[in-house]
Amino acid sequence: MEEATKQEQFHDEQIIIPPMTETEIKHKKRSTEKTKDHKYIELDKVLERYRGQKGELIRVLHSAQKIFGYLPQEVQAYVALKMDIPVSEVNGVVTFYTLFVTEPKGKHSVNVCMGTACYVKGASEIIDKLKEELKLDAQETSTDGLFTVRSTRCIGACGMAPVMTVDEEVHGRLNPADLTGILKKYQEQDAGEKYEHDQVN
Ligand code: FES
Repeated sequence: MEEATKQEQFHDEQIIIPPMTETEIKHKKRSTEKTKDHKYIELDKVLERYRGQKGELIRVLHSAQKIFGYLPQEVQAYVALKMDIPVSEVNGVVTFYTLFVTEPKGKHSVNVCMGTACYVKGASEIIDKLKEELKLDAQETSTDGLFTVRSTRCIGACGMAPVMTVDEEVHGRLNPADLTGILKKYQEQDAGEKYEHDQVN
């Protein structure tokens, strides 16, 4: 009970992030655009290296994914245009190979074990609750870019079923009601890091 009061107090004292001024917003927008342009310049160098080699599409896409982190439609269309091939061909390759991803990965990887022991102990309810909490529909990554939720095979912690990992951390004997608090811990941690980063920059 005393522990719960301490936790409530902690949550009440969470860091308040001041809203950004108009100048800060403009600066942020400009730097995002610059980063994006910089990535396209990198991609142009790759495309130049493979100019006229349509058979090297997989290598080009691999490099593009390294540069952008994933392959959104606009990058696929850009590659198709520059390599003079149909977008459908690029899209066909991207969807065929599992190494290519079309969605950005969240900062934290949440993997819910769907092995037998975890499944029997209610892993599906854990996934459902995560989807509800993070408002995930068909997509795996939350709109704030913080979490990517996936299911995984047995991770060897069956005695703690049902189990999920968040990055390297293992959370066991889970109950759907625990998830709000677990996610909140990472959300607050991230808000704190963001605040410190914004103060320095
Ligand atoms: S079945 Fe989930 S950890 Fe083994």
